[in-house]
Amino acid sequence: MKLKKNTIAIIDLGGQYCHLIARKLRDIGVEPRIYGPDVAPKQLDWCAGVILSGGPQSVYEAAAPKIRRSVLDLGVPVLGICYGHQLLAQMLGGHVTKRDGEYGHAQLHVKVSDTLFRNTPRSQQVWMSHSDAVTQLPKGAAPIASTERCENAAFADFKRRVFGVQFHPEVVHTEHGRQILKNFARCVCKIRKRSKPSDRIQRLVGWIRQTVGDRSVFFLVSGGVDSTVAFVLCARALPKERILGLYVDTGLMRERETEELRATLAGLGLADRLMVRDASALFFDKLRGITAPEEKRHIIGRLFVQIQSEAMHEYGIDSKHWLLGQGTIYPDTIESGGAAGRAALIKTHHNRCEEIRELIRLGRVIEPLSEFYKDEVRQVGSALELPPQLTQRWPFPGPGLAIRCICSATSGKAAQLSSASAETVREAGFSGVLLPVQSVGVQGDARTYRKVVALRNERRRFDYHRMQELSTVLCNVHAETNRVIVLLATGSEVRLEDARIRQASITRKRVDILRRADFLVRMAMERSGLTGAVWQFPVVLAPICFGGGESVVLRPVNSEDGMTANFARLPLPFLMRVARKVANLSGVDAVFLDITNKPPATIEWE
Ligand code: XMP
Repeated sequence: MKLKKNTIAIIDLGGQYCHLIARKLRDIGVEPRIYGPDVAPKQLDWCAGVILSGGPQSVYEAAAPKIRRSVLDLGVPVLGICYGHQLLAQMLGGHVTKRDGEYGHAQLHVKVSDTLFRNTPRSQQVWMSHSDAVTQLPKGAAPIASTERCENAAFADFKRRVFGVQFHPEVVHTEHGRQILKNFARCVCKIRKRSKPSDRIQRLVGWIRQTVGDRSVFFLVSGGVDSTVAFVLCARALPKERILGLYVDTGLMRERETEELRATLAGLGLADRLMVRDASALFFDKLRGITAPEEKRHIIGRLFVQIQSEAMHEYGIDSKHWLLGQGTIYPDTIESGGAAGRAALIKTHHNRCEEIRELIRLGRVIEPLSEFYKDEVRQVGSALELPPQLTQRWPFPGPGLAIRCICSATSGKAAQLSSASAETVREAGFSGVLLPVQSVGVQGDARTYRKVVALRNERRRFDYHRMQELSTVLCNVHAETNRVIVLLATGSEVRLEDARIRQASITRKRVDILRRADFLVRMAMERSGLTGAVWQFPVVLAPICFGGGESVVLRPVNSEDGMTANFARLPLPFLMRVARKVANLSGVDAVFLDITNKPPATIEWE
């Protein structure tokens, strides 16, 4: 099926903002699709325009990404951004020269204000990040804007409909970037129609059909929003008998999860396309004694692949004719080290373990949602008429409760804070200790695995603002820390200084305690009508002991896309009530609230 010419192809030349270009286009109602530099022109014959992204390299480097010349001969409008702007100029006969860098904000002076700069002021702020510059324009092109340090900050060849901008219109710091991209899409590419959610479905369905061809898709469905939406999309695109879903009960699922998924799929007439396997014994067996978060994640990823291939074998599904479907979304790929392996590894998402990467390399994986952010996936789900209980569900990670059941290789005692930190804590009306339990964080774009500071409020007043300040200061000045928690409730009277960390790994018993606490919290949020007040609400079990049990940490967060987050500020009477209930569960000594933003902590502890 040919897609209508109302889409823009983005060619990814290695820039870290490439996906932001896509996001910005979708926000203005234009459907983009991202391709690698070696994309063949015939793959682009459906598009109304092409954008060449930025990239870290220099056009003169031998290994710098290039595009095929024939892409420029397609006759569709082209917009080059940063490196794309330089590449475009060079390919068309212009000249690029090394210059002193221009980084950050710059004032752009517009010379020709129709087309690309329509409805934007003559002088505007843009965001630059380059050292090379276009010093000679190609024949037929003219400068249309400049900055003090860059005379060809934007050029146009109106006849060929080719444009280049040295700055980044896709980042928020470029004041009128959205309008510039909109002008390219609407005035240059002539995409008049604003795409509706149903158009996105149509585009995705078309893409799935094209990619799958006459093959079929075998899906690992977790019951979460992403994998369910991806599964239902494939079911929309292909005849029913060519999709099959496998739900693996890992023993690490939430209470009632399996039943809820079955009911949703039954409501869509897909119940007979879902197989359920209880693999909990295998998961608990392989995770026994394992404490390092990345190791846990790799084991879980591998087990999924193993079970999937066993199931495929058993059902006579041959891998030549079946693709593996996954609900991977864009943030999953960047945090796992990037789609092209450029970004730093923060966490290996279960759908990016080595075995899956190999399948991806072999072209055996289909991920229809891999360009989208969470809020966009929810919109796709609603357009597919999935029930709001599913589309509005809090994100739940693929490895499930395993990454919320914190393990420790060693035992140990709470330690004193450094005198400077202790002083800061005391001044804010708290007491605090450093716990030898570690959790994952993201600091300076890199992964950290550091200890947790536990606080206790010594004054009666519970002030979220003060707690936020305190956690920020502690993580900034205390190199050993990336996360701060505050005590909310205990089963019996405890002293923070008496906290001990116990050696722990994943057991069914611990996961059962966590599942009960998680269920209690979820139900309390639902009953109080607060579910929509937070973006996600992980409940964590950590081997922080005061008696015979452990501690539960509440981690409600608000976020737009999971990439950054703030700890959520739930009404205090509610929070205290829930904390007391959880503290009364058998196996629970204390309940804490995580008061760290992302960064420096990640949302999940592992
Ligand atoms: P972090 O903990 O990295 O999480 O701040 C960001 C978002 O990603 C979810 N998450 C995962 N989702 N597989 C998933 O499908 C995973 O391995 C995984 N790890 C984290 C997390 O729940 C949050 O929404």
